[in-house]
Amino acid sequence: MIKVLFVCLGNICRSPMAEAVFQEMVNQAGLSQQIMADSAGTGDWHVGEHAHHGTLNVLKRHNIPYNGRARHVQPRDLTDFDYVLAMDRSHLAYLERHTKGANTEVALFLSYAKQAGLLTETEVPDPYYDGKFNETYDLVVTGSRAFLDYLRRKHQL
Ligand code: 4NP
Repeated sequence: MIKVLFVCLGNICRSPMAEAVFQEMVNQAGLSQQIMADSAGTGDWHVGEHAHHGTLNVLKRHNIPYNGRARHVQPRDLTDFDYVLAMDRSHLAYLERHTKGANTEVALFLSYAKQAGLLTETEVPDPYYDGKFNETYDLVVTGSRAFLDYLRRKHQL
């Protein structure tokens, strides 16, 4: 099983959206026995909470289920997961400080889409303050497609 962890700050807006969208693409591709997704936050203020209603509304509109609860990223996530993908550079810096020579690939989530020439930006802006959840969704879809393509090529799935 290839294990993928999406990481943002609160684990209520961006990373749960990425987890849900990516897992849905994996399921649609018939790869749910090969790839699994989870998400976590670098902050612990929202631990145990449902995702933000902005994220849940966007997911519902696209018929994508999600009922995860926020959790704080743990040191062992950085060895348990094969890929740990940061929504922006601040999370990447946090993860890199906590990565100690593990085989885990730690990267910016959008770096795969940028590499594929699909995007110029490499960070998913935080919709928590400006409410731009539709823009977040568009970036998450593009990022998830590119990352799934990357995994399929790399692991011959
Ligand atoms: P997220 O958004 O990192 O995408 O889940 C945020 C959620 C909560 C806060 C900031 C960003 N907060 O300050 O509580």
